[in-house]
Order: sequence, then structure tokens, then C-alpha cells
Amino acid sequence: MSIKLDLTQVGHPDLSGYQALVTRIHQKIQSKTGIGSDFLGWNTWPFDYDKDEFEKVKSLAKTIRENAEVLVVCGIGGSYLGSRAAIEMIQGLYPNRKLELVYLGNTLSSTYIVQAIDRIKDKSVYVNVISKSGTTTETAMAFRLLKQFLEQKYGKDEAKKRIIATTDKHKGTLKSFADKEGYATLSIPDDIGGRYSVLTSVGLLPIAAAGIDIDEMMEGAKKAATDCQDDDLEVNTAYQYAVMRRLLEKEGKSIELLVSYESQLTMFAEWWKQLFGESEGKEDKGLFPASVNFSTDLHSMGQFVQEGKKVLFETLLMINKPLLDMTFPEDKDNLDGMNYLAGKKLSDVNNAAMKGTLIAHHDEAKIPNMILTVEDFSARSFGYMAQWFFIACGMSVYLLNVNPFNQPGVEVYKKNMFKLLGKQ
Ligand code: PA5
Repeated sequence: MSIKLDLTQVGHPDLSGYQALVTRIHQKIQSKTGIGSDFLGWNTWPFDYDKDEFEKVKSLAKTIRENAEVLVVCGIGGSYLGSRAAIEMIQGLYPNRKLELVYLGNTLSSTYIVQAIDRIKDKSVYVNVISKSGTTTETAMAFRLLKQFLEQKYGKDEAKKRIIATTDKHKGTLKSFADKEGYATLSIPDDIGGRYSVLTSVGLLPIAAAGIDIDEMMEGAKKAATDCQDDDLEVNTAYQYAVMRRLLEKEGKSIELLVSYESQLTMFAEWWKQLFGESEGKEDKGLFPASVNFSTDLHSMGQFVQEGKKVLFETLLMINKPLLDMTFPEDKDNLDGMNYLAGKKLSDVNNAAMKGTLIAHHDEAKIPNMILTVEDFSARSFGYMAQWFFIACGMSVYLLNVNPFNQPGVEVYKKNMFKLLGKQ
């Protein structure tokens, strides 16, 4: 298992000019001496993750699976996107699973919140509230509504047993709230920020509750961390990708478009956008990370990619083996004229769309394409991909001389919103 990186469609560039800089940054990451190095915990996490906490996650997940019809995952940004990305990638969008997952705390949309709570009212519900800071407005608002809902439905004592809080180990509003109320708690390591936290309890509890093998996932992450230990640009694919992004930016590209051909990767792309966008969009620097899901978006954004302003490059994420497949049937009347596809697998048609599009975009529209290939939709592959993108993102952002681990810009809207709402 690995991620293969094909650079033939970006013209076989010579990356060696970056080697000395990459080596220096690599050493800073390893010795934790770069900017923001208090948040480099993800770098060694697949080797040194907290095994007791991991067992606690498994045991809580088992309780949820045995007792709940619905698990509400209440969190936003890095406290939500990773688990949803993993679950949808690994199980597909209409999984054969008893437990329904409902996401709350990720929006202020009144209609969404009211409908979601209405949807779960007659079901057996558990809630996992996830917030490192414990003060995020979207999450805290939704959690108050959920707490009151559970207490009305089950009474205070039973409600308590159905709430699991994932938050800072020692401090914060949610931590003291959970301790006071007597909720089960899971902790987020001090040195791992939200968008790097999918392989901690933040992501692992919802993922395990969905029935996914989290041991396998951590094995995949460990393999990626092992494969990318060498700073040599000849062998480290995550660093090759990191450098290639910077080279394409220098050539005038300002948008990286993550392209996939599987609907179940839509949330993975959302997770990836947060990782790169929030890590590098600072100090007037950074590529704008965008995503499309083809062939769906070939019928919308495809026009821009083919003939619009030449501002973007594509990173094509290919998964070799679909989760499910079937053969397209023959029809004796052939009124729809589709018999030319009879006998082919659905995935063959999708692959033909992918190959045809690559020719159209790369050969004809001259859009550079990096191609990432992953074997399958397994938990192991997800773990590998998450860790690989962390490594790539850290290097790529450090190459810009920017702190990959803070997000000062997101405070600006909050300040204005709080003022408008009269928060002291
Ligand atoms: O990556 C990040 O740090 C952010 O996206 C946070 O995860 C997000 O804002 C949620 O924060 P919290 O977990 O403190 O509620």
C-alpha cells in the first residue's frame, strides 16, 4: 500500500534544486525547531499514539454501536471534516450500516439545525461533542440544543450516559462542563491542531462507531510515516508533491484543483481543502485549494477548466479498485442506444471518462496534472492518505516560510459576529 505520484503530466520537472531547502526544513520538522513547532505532534503520532486512549475509543464505539440508532457528531472544521471524510470514503454514501450518523455543530443554518433535531427525535441517540477550544459558537450552540433534547427525552441521568465529549485534556469550557456533568471524555493531544487531528480521538470515535477498523487505519498511517521518513526528493513522494505545488505556483498557477471520480471522495476533498487552505493561506501567500468531482462537475466546472483562464493546475486522485461495481446490461430493444456499453463494468466507463478528460485537459488545454494513485477505499488506505497529506502539507507550507499550524485569519469574522451579537 502506498500513494503513487506520477509527474509525467507536469513535464518531468527537475526537483533537485529544492533538495537543500527540503533537507533543512525536514531537519527542523524532526527536531521541532520550525515555526509553530508546538503543533508537530501529528508527525510521530502513528508511532507514539496513546494506546490507552485508543482502547477507550474502541470501547465507547462498541457501546454506541450496541445502543444507538443515531450518533450525532457535533463539531466543525478540524473537529468534524476528517471523520466524515473517512467514513464516506471507506463505506460509500449509502452504506449498509445500522447506525445513522447525523452531523451538527458545523453550521449556523437554522433550517439545517431544526430539521436535523427533528429527524432524530424518535430514535435512540448518542452524541459525540468535539471541540478542542470548547468555545466554538456553532458547536456550543448545537450542543446546548442536543443536551436539552436528550435530557427531555431520557431524563438527566440517562442523557449523561449518552454524551461523549472530545476536548482538551486539561482545560477549556467543554472540559470543565463535561467534568461537572459527568460525561465520558476523550482527549485531544496538546500538540495536534484541529485539521491534523483525524487520527486522534477527534476522528477515531465516529469512525470506529461507524464500524471501521481503526487498527487498520493507524497501520496505514504508520506505513506512510515510515515511507516518508527519508528527506531525499528522489524517493519521498509527499515531498515531491509539496515541491511540485510550489513550482507550479511559480509558473503562475494560483489554484490547485483536486479532482476525483468517485462521489464518496467529496468530503475527502473538503477535508483536504481545509488542511491546505487553512495551513497556507496567510501573509498574502498560498495556492487556493479547490475541488471537483468528475464526471458530475464536468457538466458544470468542466467548461472553465477546458477553456477558462489558465490559473489552475489539477491534482488527480485516482483509486484503483472501486468499493462496488456491476456490469452494464444488454437491452434487446436498445431504445436508448446504450448497448455499446453492454458487458462493460460501470468502473470501465468511469475510467474511460477519466482518461478522456486527462487528454482533454492536459494534452489539449495544457493544464498541468499531478496524478496520485491509491489502491483502494480501505481504512488502511485512508490512514495512509491522511498521514501522507499531513507530511506534504507541512513541507509545502514551510517552503513558503509560513506557519502551517495557526489560523489567525479565522478570528476576524468571529470578532465582528460577537460584536453584533453583544457578546462580552
Ligand atoms: O483546524 C482547526 O484548528 C480548526 O478548523 C478547528 O478545528 C475548528 O475551528 C474547530 O475548533 P474547535 O475544535 O476548537 O471547536
